[in-house]
Amino acid sequence: MEAAILSICYLIGSVTFIVGLKMLSHPETARRGNLVSAAGMGIAIAGTLFLYRSEGRHLHNYGWIAGALAIGAIAGTSAARKVKMTAMPQLVSLFNGMGGLCAALISVVEFNRLSNPDPLSLPVASLSAAAVSQGSYSSLHVLIILAGLVIGSVSFAGSMIAFGKLNGGIKDHAFPGQHVANLVVLAAILLLGVFLVRGNVTAPALLFYGTLILSMAYGILFVLPIGGADMPVVISLLNSFTGVATACGGFLYNNPVMLTGGILVGSAGAILTTLMCKAMNRSLKNVLIGSFGSKAASAAGIPGKQGTYKEVGINDAAMVLGYAHKVMIVPGYGLAVAQAQHVCHELEKLLSEKGVVVKYAIHPVAGRMPGHMNVLLAEANVSYDELLETDPANAEFPTTDVVLVLGANDVVNPAAEMDPASPIYGMPILEVGKAKMVIVNKRSMRPGYAGIDNDLFFQPNTSMLFGDAKDVLQQLIAGIKAL
Ligand code: TAP
Repeated sequence: MEAAILSICYLIGSVTFIVGLKMLSHPETARRGNLVSAAGMGIAIAGTLFLYRSEGRHLHNYGWIAGALAIGAIAGTSAARKVKMTAMPQLVSLFNGMGGLCAALISVVEFNRLSNPDPLSLPVASLSAAAVSQGSYSSLHVLIILAGLVIGSVSFAGSMIAFGKLNGGIKDHAFPGQHVANLVVLAAILLLGVFLVRGNVTAPALLFYGTLILSMAYGILFVLPIGGADMPVVISLLNSFTGVATACGGFLYNNPVMLTGGILVGSAGAILTTLMCKAMNRSLKNVLIGSFGSKAASAAGIPGKQGTYKEVGINDAAMVLGYAHKVMIVPGYGLAVAQAQHVCHELEKLLSEKGVVVKYAIHPVAGRMPGHMNVLLAEANVSYDELLETDPANAEFPTTDVVLVLGANDVVNPAAEMDPASPIYGMPILEVGKAKMVIVNKRSMRPGYAGIDNDLFFQPNTSMLFGDAKDVLQQLIAGIKAL
């Protein structure tokens, strides 16, 4: 009976993961989707903790389990509450690293159980039980343990480096022959794996822990040279690795909810990585071994080389916006940095009250994480109906009086369409230059993420409005109110 209830708990867990993931695909349902999946996970954990007893294989060490749950819950909740929107990729990286570490630790525990099975712990997949005898293992079982160990360790070590880079503590480190060194480490991991899977080795523990150390080293070496600005893509890839490593754990424990969760995370991470690369018009290889947005690329951008740009003052900008028929706001990374989403919404409401039609044009890779602008604007209660994706926004620019670019740069750079030599050539952009007038707010003429100049700033219908986005928006509101 209790076994049946446990199966139902796992079924509920698996279904809620799928439903929750689907709900995450729209900002309106995303919050609920998160809760639905978390509830399913809670049910699956509670079922595992309390219902295994009935099978005579009861869990023990409840004190330790409760302690670990409490520490994890307190640390996770306070980190998630305190984190700034712009530091979200760091938090995701840290959480993902913990998932990878857990998957690797499962492999360590299971490896030790091969020679010292503990009758009180969770049952491993049946095929292993028969095969466990001193020095001789079931190849498939060892293969899965090793896959979890290697992928989980790479994900953990890589995520920690990604976290350090995004926090500014670790710089990009590229050294000559780094790709060869990576391949050598990878080959050594594979070689040790082959020995362990074939079995009958004299010192399996030595080989196993050697694999662990080499996998950690590979995770570090693999992420260290990648440009800091490319970290969101790398984190998504590592997230996919963690999913696969978790699925290995699910396979070992014959646990459907762990298997489903792992497969979903693995495939969602892989799809997200592909989508991000596609939206930037770059291959994964280019992200992993190119130095996009790094010093080399920035050096190519010489600010101001295209000619002169026009500046507009607050009062003039307020007048142009206040008397326009249709205004399109293009938010970018700078809006998130300035935390200006609320004041941006205030400006939009003020203009709407004056009869101006106001919409937002959202580029899929504006900001630094998928859906960054959607999340930012949702935080300020901007209506989803006012958000236009790239294609519909581009269709509306020719009939737009004023485009207000707020801290966006690469996503409005015409080089993506005009300059085949540009690193962003081919990336779909918001064609703001087609509007009657463009006002670009940023703090300086410095380039954005891709480290390249932007011809838009020098076009005749563009005016620069320098300053921090939040300050500028507050002054614009005051200016429009005074009209
Ligand atoms: P960026 O091209 O990075 O430009 C942001 C601009 O904001 C900068 O030029 C900066 O200029 C300005 N800025 C910074 N702080 C500001 C502030 N307080 N007030 C006003 N302006 C400020 O941003 P974007 O147009 O959003 O493009 C995103 C880039 O990130 C793309 O290249 C994309 O490929 C890349 N990327 C995105 C993702 C995802 S999934 N979103 C993932 C990885 C990479 P100043 O310094 O002069 O102010």
